[in-house]
Amino acid sequence: MDLGIRGKKALLVGASRGLGKACALALAQEGVDVTIVARRRDALEQAGAEIAAATGVKVTTAVGDITTKEGRAAAVAACPAPDILLNNADGPSPGDFRQWSRDDWLAALDAMMLGPIEMIRLTVDGMMARGFGRIVNIVSRSVKSPQPELGLSNGARSGLVGFVGGLARQTVARNVTINNLLPGIFDSDAQRQHVRGMLGASGKSFDQVWQARAAANPAKRYGRPAELGACCAFLCSQHAGYITGQNLLVDGGSYPGTY
Ligand SMILES: NC(=O)c1ccc[n+]([C@@H]2O[C@H](COP(=O)([O-])OP(=O)(O)OC[C@H]3O[C@@H](n4cnc5c(N)ncnc54)[C@H](OP(=O)(O)O)[C@@H]3O)[C@@H](O)[C@H]2O)c1
Repeated sequence: MDLGIRGKKALLVGASRGLGKACALALAQEGVDVTIVARRRDALEQAGAEIAAATGVKVTTAVGDITTKEGRAAAVAACPAPDILLNNADGPSPGDFRQWSRDDWLAALDAMMLGPIEMIRLTVDGMMARGFGRIVNIVSRSVKSPQPELGLSNGARSGLVGFVGGLARQTVARNVTINNLLPGIFDSDAQRQHVRGMLGASGKSFDQVWQARAAANPAKRYGRPAELGACCAFLCSQHAGYITGQNLLVDGGSYPGTY
């Protein structure tokens, strides 16, 4: 299928590795020029070089932190009129809400709700004026299936999803859609970090916990980042203009509900 987005410009925040990088690669494979943003320059430059070598599209890199005003400004300066925006950043550390301070909550809100909303604010009106826009937020299955140890994610990401649900209905008439991808367990640095954080006093090894999580998934495996990247590319395609305000679980079937 030709996704019909060759020559479009995409701004992808949190795209030097893992799921964000996979989204950048999938879009680049469709001929989209990509600007990728992350906080650390070395991995970012390496990712940019890999994507450019693999696809031949124009790849721009910008160092920036989505949780700061300066970081968001650097991202937009590198790609001032994006047709496509991907919002992505670190997830939270697991823990017990009794230990979290107000500052912990504000940091979580900045990364998982307010930073993405600000990025949307900085780009959505231009998309609407130009008559094309695709905004995708990498969220988590935790907004449909709360994870006991991830209260910061359960809370902060639900705020983003609720906000997007309202805004997405106001932009679609101008061919600007906003959707959320809800990953289950994917094989990435963040997933490995999460599993390390779960070991605690369990007495189990990393490999035991890692494999048990795969075995507990109906697909019996972790997701591959490229699988999520492909979903992102489709949501950003010309064909997806009638899909907005949706929360797409990409989780191997682990969410147990019919709806
Ligand atoms: N992997 C999973 O199984 C899974 C499941 C559910 C939800 N998620 C969520 O999906 C998101 C992506 O996961 P992942 O596994 O791809 O993570 P990852 O491998 O750790 O990659 C995160 C990417 O975002 C960048 N980044 C992080 N914080 C940033 C910030 N404040 N500003 C700009 N860039 C930032 C990182 O680069 P720098 O560190 O250099 O900034 C990196 O490029 C996370 O929020 C995660 O919680 C993942």
